[in-house]
Amino acid sequence: MDTHSHTLSSPVASNMTNQPLTPNPHPPAFPIPWEDEQTVTRRNFMSFVLLLSTTLLASTGLLGLVNWFQRRSTAQFTPALIATVNDVPIASAKLFSYPTAHDPCLLIRLAENQFVAYSQKCTHLSCPVIYQAQKNEFFCPCHAGRFAVDDGRVLGGPPQRPLPRILLNVKGHEVWATGVHV
Ligand code: FES
Repeated sequence: MDTHSHTLSSPVASNMTNQPLTPNPHPPAFPIPWEDEQTVTRRNFMSFVLLLSTTLLASTGLLGLVNWFQRRSTAQFTPALIATVNDVPIASAKLFSYPTAHDPCLLIRLAENQFVAYSQKCTHLSCPVIYQAQKNEFFCPCHAGRFAVDDGRVLGGPPQRPLPRILLNVKGHEVWATGVHV
C-alpha cells in the first residue's frame, strides 16, 4: 500500500503541510450562535432601560429643583400711598420706595386707568433699571438686561427672574402699594 500518496490526497494532511487555508466563499450569515445573540440583546435592553430610568429620574429631580428656585410668592405689607393719579402722566414713570425706604420702585402709568409698579432693582445684580416708554421695556444698563413692562418678565440679557411686582390699589385719585409679588 502506498501510504505516502494516500496522506497527501487527504484534506487533513494538506493542512499539516502549512499550505494557506482557502477562505470559505460562503461564510455563515449569523456568526454568533443564536443563544448568545439572545443573551446579548437582553443585556443591552436591560442596560438601556436602566439608563432611561436614571435619566428620567435625574430630569424630574432637576425640574423640581428649578421650579423650587423659580417659584413665586406674594407678601402683603402695610399699605402706603405712593402717588396721586395726576402725579404720573400716561407713559411716564414715578420713582418711589416700598416696602422700606431702601427698596426703590417704579410706578408706570400705561393708560388712563392702568398702573403697574415694579422693584427698580435688576434681578441680576441689583442695578437700577430704566423705564423705556417707546419700547415698553425696562432696561438695565449694567449688562443690558431687559424686562417687559406688562408683567416684569425677562426679555433679554443675563437676568433669570422677573422683576418683583408691586401690588397696587387705586382708590379714587390715590395710588396705594399693598404688597410685593416676587
Ligand atoms: S445687573 Fe442688570 S443685567 Fe446685570
